[in-house]
Amino acid sequence: MSFGEDVAERYDDSPRGDEEAAVAFLERLAGEGPALELAIGTGRIALPLAARGVPVHGVDLSPAMVARLRRKPGGEGIPVTMGDFSEVPVPGRYRLVYVVFNTLFNLLTQDEQVRCFENVAAHLTDDGAFVVEAIVPAYLVRLRDDQYVDAEAVGVEEVRLDVARHDPVTQRLYESHVSLSATGIRLNPIVTRYAWPSELDLMARIAGLHLRERWGGWEREPFCATSRVHVSVYGR
Ligand SMILES: C[S@@+](CC[C@H](N)C(=O)[O-])C[C@H]1O[C@@H](n2cnc3c(N)ncnc32)[C@H](O)[C@@H]1O
Repeated sequence: MSFGEDVAERYDDSPRGDEEAAVAFLERLAGEGPALELAIGTGRIALPLAARGVPVHGVDLSPAMVARLRRKPGGEGIPVTMGDFSEVPVPGRYRLVYVVFNTLFNLLTQDEQVRCFENVAAHLTDDGAFVVEAIVPAYLVRLRDDQYVDAEAVGVEEVRLDVARHDPVTQRLYESHVSLSATGIRLNPIVTRYAWPSELDLMARIAGLHLRERWGGWEREPFCATSRVHVSVYGR
């Protein structure tokens, strides 16, 4: 529900800025491919990866996000299966499966996240890699009263706030990106279930995979105590 028409329409207006580095990182692991993006969205990563010659397939639930992908140059040529990415609802095996931009955490229970690892493992070639890029949730344990309001942008025409409540028991973050302007108030709600990198490593082990590499970012920054994100590579 968080990725309807309204969000899809604006999704590519302010790119995250990590696209080139992410694509270079993924291309090295993909080899001849094929690659599978879980939650392909509007193709922010899949399209430039495919443009480098890697055959890319995708899975997503949102017709609106995939419709945006289809309207972009090259977007018609990428096979997309509509469905829940935790099921990895595709035939065949992939040299590279990846899920970026914290999207693994869109699966709201530990069971679903474990199921995702297990289904990915069943679709990896013997030398295949599963790449997860996500936040390190350290900042959430330092919140006052398990909540925050961040001023994301303060302009003359618009103010954008990120408002959230944290539930440490379920490891869920209930968040809304709120836009205030003369035209009105817009809410973009999203719920996520975060996991520490160590919990993801255990999920991988349950699925018969193990951690091959962990970096603090797409540029292969060392992963350390102050890393805000991690890029983790799992394999058999
Ligand atoms: C933050 S966007 C990321 C899109 C793209 N991977 C990127 O990096 O720009 C999250 C995407 O996950 C999709 N999504 C969320 N939960 C899903 C699920 N359980 N199964 C399939 N797609 C899902 C949404 O429809 C949306 O396109």
